[in-house]
Amino acid sequence: MNFELKSLGLVGAGTEKCDALLVLVTQTFKAGKDDLSQLVAAAIKSGDLETKPGKVLSLYKPVQANATRVVLVGAGEGSARDVRAAMMAATPLVKSALFKKVMVCFAQPAREEAVRAAMLAIADATYVYTLTKSKPEGRTLQKAIIATTNVAEVQSLFQRTAATIQGVEVAKEWANRPANHATPTHLAQAAQELAKLTKIRCEVLGPKEVAKLGMGSFMAVAQGSDEPLRFIVLHYDGAAKAKAPTVLVGKGITFDSGGISIKPAPEMDEMKFDMSGAASVLGVFRALSVLKPSINVVGLIPACENLLSGRAVKPGDVVKSMSGQTIEILNTDAEGRLVLCDALTYAERFKPSAAIDVATLTGACMIALGGVRSGLFASDEALGKALAVAGDAAQDLCWRMPLDEEYAEGLKTNFADVANVAGRAGGAVTAAKFLQRFASKFPWAHLDIAGTAWKSGVQKGATGRPVGLLVEFLLARAENK
Ligand code: BES
Ligand code: MN
Ligand code: ZN
Repeated sequence: MNFELKSLGLVGAGTEKCDALLVLVTQTFKAGKDDLSQLVAAAIKSGDLETKPGKVLSLYKPVQANATRVVLVGAGEGSARDVRAAMMAATPLVKSALFKKVMVCFAQPAREEAVRAAMLAIADATYVYTLTKSKPEGRTLQKAIIATTNVAEVQSLFQRTAATIQGVEVAKEWANRPANHATPTHLAQAAQELAKLTKIRCEVLGPKEVAKLGMGSFMAVAQGSDEPLRFIVLHYDGAAKAKAPTVLVGKGITFDSGGISIKPAPEMDEMKFDMSGAASVLGVFRALSVLKPSINVVGLIPACENLLSGRAVKPGDVVKSMSGQTIEILNTDAEGRLVLCDALTYAERFKPSAAIDVATLTGACMIALGGVRSGLFASDEALGKALAVAGDAAQDLCWRMPLDEEYAEGLKTNFADVANVAGRAGGAVTAAKFLQRFASKFPWAHLDIAGTAWKSGVQKGATGRPVGLLVEFLLARAENK
């Protein structure tokens, strides 16, 4: 997606040649002397255009503009929320195959967050998955120009958002791929491709190396599949070597059948998205290579399938994790935590200033928060706050969840140090409590993206979340140190 920022108001926007000109009209709109402003003013006066967010008036080749189509859209107060609603209303139009170049013009000087909202909306509406279509019809929109008169004020956020969107699209692409086109080996290759970019290195471990490390928990999940596991280690070296890195861990279950504790058939296909955490880590690295912040980041991706076979792990089996803790696997469908716990132990070797894992971990989190906010758990107050703040700024929201010790009660068992599941109650929290046992050596946070990583139904597809949140968090961290 190619974005450009131009210093233009309605006067200049009217003279620009493009397939569509979207004019965002806020309540405070004041007409200038130019023809386009006069047109907008007349449309408001006649009642044909309302400035309420999402009200649309479409025009074909009006003499007042050089664009083939002009779409006037009410943008309310010009807040991020109102601009998002406005863009949502206009996007069925933006999606048209006729549009190769569009301009979004803020009739009033744009707020930074409104520019971000507009860019995110355009990118989201025009992204198309094509990999496994025999006659791919990709994104037709080639260029989106953002026009506002206060370019200096919004320039830096414009660039940050454009880079973030590149990362979001990497995440969407990988998460969307069917499991037979996104195996652990494929994911490792994607990571190795990223390592060709500036400041990025990559290392990939296979079954032998992982066995040598003693990752018995991760291996137990992988053993039911013929597809070999991969443990992917990415490095972004943006600061001095001595600076402690921030570690990101992404759940990379490329397909989750549930294992012997098999899932019901309806919607099981959606478990190809169970590597969305891993995809978001890949996306973050892509954005980092563009933005080049002065921070060190390590990305860890334990990738495997969770399948059934004569060799699959069984309910009741006890395995030994890399940390030395033994785990009774009471439910093979609670596999995310089993691969993440060994990755968290592996993270210790980097002496990280913080480690954050990102996972489509529990249906319970989806029930608790729906598709609006990701679940945020943090053992460290400052880290929790920083992630929540980053989510707000990135318009990629999360919500803090509790970690009281009482929630860990149900993980007790007579047969191992810990069980991999507790009862049904508080399932998102008990999952986090399990992970916390493996994250005692550094400030730790966990993002449960089960509800936010993809959409179901007719709009089925990955969202690229929480790439925006994580990029924003890392940039803020780079600036603060
Ligand atoms: N990948 C799933 C979680 C999930 C389910 C995400 C549905 C999004 C939609 C995870 O591996 C899982 O199966 N979790 C179980 C845990 C349970 C067995 C304690 C769950 O949530 O049902
Ligand atoms: Mn599962
Ligand atoms: Zn899973």
